[in-house]
Amino acid sequence: MSLQPHPADLPPDYPVAYEREVRLRDGRRVVIRPIVPSDAPDLAAAIRSADAETLHRRFLGGSPRVTPELLTRLTQLDYTRRFALVAADATGGRGVAVARYEHLGEGVAEVAVAVDPAWRRVGLATAMVEILAQAALERNIHTFSASYLADNRPVAALLSLADLTRPREMEQGLAESEVELDRGSVAAAVRAMNTDQHGAAPS
Ligand SMILES: CC(C)(COP(=O)(O)OP(=O)(O)OC[C@H]1O[C@@H](n2cnc3c(N)ncnc32)[C@H](O)[C@@H]1OP(=O)(O)O)[C@@H](O)C(=O)NCCC(=O)NCCS
Repeated sequence: MSLQPHPADLPPDYPVAYEREVRLRDGRRVVIRPIVPSDAPDLAAAIRSADAETLHRRFLGGSPRVTPELLTRLTQLDYTRRFALVAADATGGRGVAVARYEHLGEGVAEVAVAVDPAWRRVGLATAMVEILAQAALERNIHTFSASYLADNRPVAALLSLADLTRPREMEQGLAESEVELDRGSVAAAVRAMNTDQHGAAPS
């Protein structure tokens, strides 16, 4: 995964304002940026090589068949109703996490995130969800919904970071929560992040 896609690979509506270099809690640095279509081969390799537990939790039971259609759906986005960020190791450029939201209905989007096991517990998912939340609020999305396996303690904890979670329903081992995005808290969280902003400030 390239840290900075070639200019020719950037879609016309690529939102450069969400590029950030973030220092994680253990000192390692990642470049977080919107996903682009040319990330498809690296994303395919990452899904194919992910461990069964990660795939089970991210895709709620089944690991997906990596087809051209799936890769198109995951990498060709309008950055409004469907938005995704990738994180790459700032030193080597290897992709280490993906976070995305997809618009579900009136002001609500479903959020999903997966972090390479070697990069967990240092605040990466939190940073990516916060940047996604900022993008969402700027696109009139005010609620994140997440579906996850009910025993997924990390996700439950991630969603309750701002104490805004209200679990909606739980059936057959699946939990769903909705988080009302609070403009002030999201802005403060993004400001407090250890970032070097790459792009222009979001309007
Ligand atoms: C869930 C996941 C994305 C969390 O990523 P992460 O980068 O490790 O998360 P963060 O470091 O931002 O941690 C956020 C909080 O979640 C909680 N958390 C994270 N991992 C945890 C664990 N193994 N056990 C308990 N709590 C955990 C903690 O409260 C943590 O905050 P803290 O470290 O300050 O205590 C990651 O574990 C993952 O990719 N899991 C597999 C895929 C998945 O389950 N995706 C979610 C379904 S959409």
